[in-house]
Amino acid sequence: MRKPFVAGNWKMNTDSHTSVELVKSIASGSLEVTGHSVDVAVIPPFVYLQVVAGALSSSSIAVGAQDIYYERQGAFTGEISASMLKDIGCTYALCGHSERRHIIGETDELINKKVAAAVSGGVLPILCVGELIEERQADKTTEVVSRQVKSCLAGLSAAKVSAVTLAYEPVWAIGTGLTATPQQAQEVHTLIRDLLGQMYEESLAEEIRILYGGSVKPNSVTDLMSRQDVDGLLVGGASLNADDFIAIIRAAV
Ligand code: 13P
Repeated sequence: MRKPFVAGNWKMNTDSHTSVELVKSIASGSLEVTGHSVDVAVIPPFVYLQVVAGALSSSSIAVGAQDIYYERQGAFTGEISASMLKDIGCTYALCGHSERRHIIGETDELINKKVAAAVSGGVLPILCVGELIEERQADKTTEVVSRQVKSCLAGLSAAKVSAVTLAYEPVWAIGTGLTATPQQAQEVHTLIRDLLGQMYEESLAEEIRILYGGSVKPNSVTDLMSRQDVDGLLVGGASLNADDFIAIIRAAV
């Protein structure tokens, strides 16, 4: 049985004060469910990771980074390694978020290195995949998502892949208010799980959690989570509002 997992990606939002206020409210408002019935993570900007991790030290809410670099250390100005993230109590790292793919220009090859480095360095990757609106309209969703999953996991052993969480985030649903229908989400989640079964073992594919992301709001959670292969949610905008995020966590249980 896959335990539900809800993660809040704060993107480039909050400040040193509001980040701490936000997690304190989330932690106190979700206390009885977090950890045993649902895994929860918050994903603040790099510069607030440490203060947020500190504010959560007696909570079972985990902290994740929005990105990670694949080298261990050295002359890589502006980059952050897995060991640095571990050092400050960071459990997860997003790899290949659509904003990094489409605004910053990250490729599947680069994301593949990041996923591998995260696992080797003891940070759990959340690998994001998803198609553009033009790709969906051209009936290329299966092709695009399959290519992303295969390329971004290339060369990873089954043992390493078991540390990975997948997140399906259709680009057209991110920040647009257009949530994928539960049926659309389920179709792509099944595709991803089948693919993982072909690449590895079916039993491993059954264990891996696949989150849905894209305009998730409290009132869309129950329907999405009722689908067999939707194991959790990667929430953007609604994770910046404590009441909404708490409602999403509770509805995901
Ligand atoms: P929104 O929930 O704001 O659409 O963002 C989704 C997302 O990109 C989470 O990583």
